[in-house]
Amino acid sequence: MSLLCCLLAGCTLFSALCKNNMAAAAAAAATTNESVMNVWYLENCNIDILDSGKTVKDFIDSKTKKLDSVGDEGPFYVANLDNIFKRHLRWLTNLPRVKPFYAVKCNNEAAVLRMLSALGTGFDCASKGEIQRALSHGVTPDKIIYAHTTKPLSHIKYARAHGVNRMTFDSEEELLKISLCHTKAKLVLRIAVDDSDSLLQLSAKFGAKLASVGKLLERAAELGLEVIGVSFHVGSGCTESGAFKQAIADARSVFDMGKLRGFQMTLLDIGGGFPGREDFQIKFEEFSEVINGALEEYFPPDSKVQIIAEPGRYYVDSAFTLAANIIAKRAILDDVGEHNDVEKSSPDRVMMYYLNDGVYGSLSFLINDPAHSEVEPYLNRTVESSEQRYRSVIWGPTCDSIDKVIDNFWIPELHVGDWLFVDNMGAYSVCSSTDFNGFERAQVYPVVTTETWHALNNFDINNIH
Ligand SMILES: Cc1ncc(COP(=O)(O)O)c(C=O)c1O
Repeated sequence: MSLLCCLLAGCTLFSALCKNNMAAAAAAAATTNESVMNVWYLENCNIDILDSGKTVKDFIDSKTKKLDSVGDEGPFYVANLDNIFKRHLRWLTNLPRVKPFYAVKCNNEAAVLRMLSALGTGFDCASKGEIQRALSHGVTPDKIIYAHTTKPLSHIKYARAHGVNRMTFDSEEELLKISLCHTKAKLVLRIAVDDSDSLLQLSAKFGAKLASVGKLLERAAELGLEVIGVSFHVGSGCTESGAFKQAIADARSVFDMGKLRGFQMTLLDIGGGFPGREDFQIKFEEFSEVINGALEEYFPPDSKVQIIAEPGRYYVDSAFTLAANIIAKRAILDDVGEHNDVEKSSPDRVMMYYLNDGVYGSLSFLINDPAHSEVEPYLNRTVESSEQRYRSVIWGPTCDSIDKVIDNFWIPELHVGDWLFVDNMGAYSVCSSTDFNGFERAQVYPVVTTETWHALNNFDINNIH
């Protein structure tokens, strides 16, 4: 079933909140339990509901066929919303005390934001633009933390004007700026923590050292600002669950320092860093166990401290699959040079393929994200063991030679017009791609199964705090 304006019989609230049906949505809102009232409007999302029994793979197959039939080879993503829903349920099961504030920077796709909002998560925004985007998708300001410690003054003013009060800081300069234009801000002190076991470290750039925390808190008090809590980020792609334990212990000591200076802090923000893909070396469950133990030890429930986190990768990475098209190819002889008539049987034959997406597009993480430094493209068919394979190099479409997707990829010979697919494409891809050289950004097609659609329709956000 395509584009839904929700033809599903039995969908009540969600079906009302669809394209061209806002009046019905308002009526539904008036008569519906507020706990399941949400922002799952479908306009601007263009979500496809998969017919019963149909899979994401079926959707991808039919999409590529359709594009082929009209001669459109543009790259696209399929965003599997079932996957995001499952991840959310997994979060609730494993970290029941920790409310997720999804990191918008990771993937700001409308369907992702609307779905997570409907599920009751909060949002971590890093700029005026991200706040604007979250608000435009129905997120209320109380569900936003402005989690950037170095903010332009005009962005702080925007936050104040739109009722976004929670924000992080890690320096005296930032306190001064905030005191100039947002005296009602609820401040969260970001501390630097040991992130040496993370693939992408952040504490070199952000976070106050424990030694400077006392002075910062005193300065905040002098300026009449309110510090409500502590945040940290163990680094993206964290490979050591103990990093969370140490960071939570460090945060405890900051709470204690705050108390001595008259601040009764009530918020602990444990940041992001959770694995986004199933094959990551440490499972989410292992992190959860360590985090729950540390919370129990340093912030037991009777401390009445609200615990939040800023997961990005965790929610979206495995939900997105990229489809890109081979737009050109060349055969060369390894170490020799170009030969269009290279013998197929030559052991030195190397195939060069040019995809219509690359490191200036969806795959920018290949050059800027150590937590995701390679991809494994695949074909939409099984490769038989008897098929001849060639060493292949896959390039992106631009004129730049840094635009390389994969080297040393052993596959059968492909042809111009063939599609290649890449899984685990949801994190730091959509939002950081450019149209360098005039190559279009990949379009996103969000899909959801009927089963999940119904489950979403009945989801009670009261089961998270
Ligand atoms: C402040 C902050 N919060 C959250 C995140 C999300 O991190 P991750 O995607 O590793 O969960 C980041 C990522 O850079 C960040 O800088």
